[in-house]
Amino acid sequence: MTDLSAFIAGLPKAELHLHIEGSLEPELMFELGRRNAIALPFKSVEEVRAAYAFSNLQDFLDIYYQGAGVLMTERDFHDLAMAYFTRVAADGCRHVEMFFDPQTHTDRGLPFDVAIEGLLSGMAEAERSLGVSAKLIMCFLRHLDEDAAFATLKAAEPWLDRIVGVGLDSSEVGHPPSKFAGIYRAARERGLKLVAHAGEEGPPAYVWEALDLLKVDRIDHGNRALEDPALVKRLAAEGMTLTVCPLSNLKLCVVDDLKAHPLKRMLDLGLHATVNSDDPAYFGGYLGENWVRTATAIGLTRDELVTLAKNSFTGSFLTEAQAAPHLAAIEAYAASPS
Ligand code: ADE
Ligand code: ZN
Repeated sequence: MTDLSAFIAGLPKAELHLHIEGSLEPELMFELGRRNAIALPFKSVEEVRAAYAFSNLQDFLDIYYQGAGVLMTERDFHDLAMAYFTRVAADGCRHVEMFFDPQTHTDRGLPFDVAIEGLLSGMAEAERSLGVSAKLIMCFLRHLDEDAAFATLKAAEPWLDRIVGVGLDSSEVGHPPSKFAGIYRAARERGLKLVAHAGEEGPPAYVWEALDLLKVDRIDHGNRALEDPALVKRLAAEGMTLTVCPLSNLKLCVVDDLKAHPLKRMLDLGLHATVNSDDPAYFGGYLGENWVRTATAIGLTRDELVTLAKNSFTGSFLTEAQAAPHLAAIEAYAASPS
């Protein structure tokens, strides 16, 4: 282990942008396929991995929705969550704010409760056995209409005290945040936190809409905000957290080379950026790998790494009292001789 990877491994971190369905490794996909008698269009794990060559977001989404089709029971969702938590606990991750896509499952006939019951039981076990805390964010699929999002919020009504907030994901271009202004108002009225993917492939105008029309608490990705200096100024002034996903950006061709990743520039511009994995089973790395490969490629300093770690907790939906021990642990770690 290099000095840099050892330093990163020991640094307390939170993950704020993780689609749990995107942590489905090919090995587990085959196991669940067998368990649930669902045939996969691939002969081997190697063949699945070879199919993970994407030119853009939609290429990935097509294969990601197909993969999620093996998830059928509460136990499947529990096992998926525990596989993820076990992996990131080893990366020094202490807290996760996890997305799930209920419509991906209800649209293929699963009752709403199956995914959420399984995920909540995985989250409880992770807290007990690994000491990793977690909160759940329910995403609406933006390629579907707002009525479908309202039906999903209605199905989630009995669970709202277990869901910290709502998000917006799937195909961005052509599905602007403005399409979902009504459902975000309804979610806000219910006291839910609000996040939305914006500026991953979509233009800066989508980030403005997420701020002004959806009134989000965080922006997921936000890369293309850098094209608009007035928007950068606004995001910096508001201390808006961006959940940046470097290996996702590389795999989906948002950047051509990790060396050209704008994370350092974001920090230099005063943006409250964080590092996250997005869909680690598809994009070639979990949280630690995102940190190490990006820090190596763009030359992040220890101070910048410490800032990113603090941002991951101050940008989280933990209360100040819940975040405080993590921030103190980061301070103590940064001050200890290595
Ligand atoms: N769903 C899962 N990962 C996503 C991403 N990076 N962008 C939009 N929707 C997604
Ligand atoms: Zn995402």
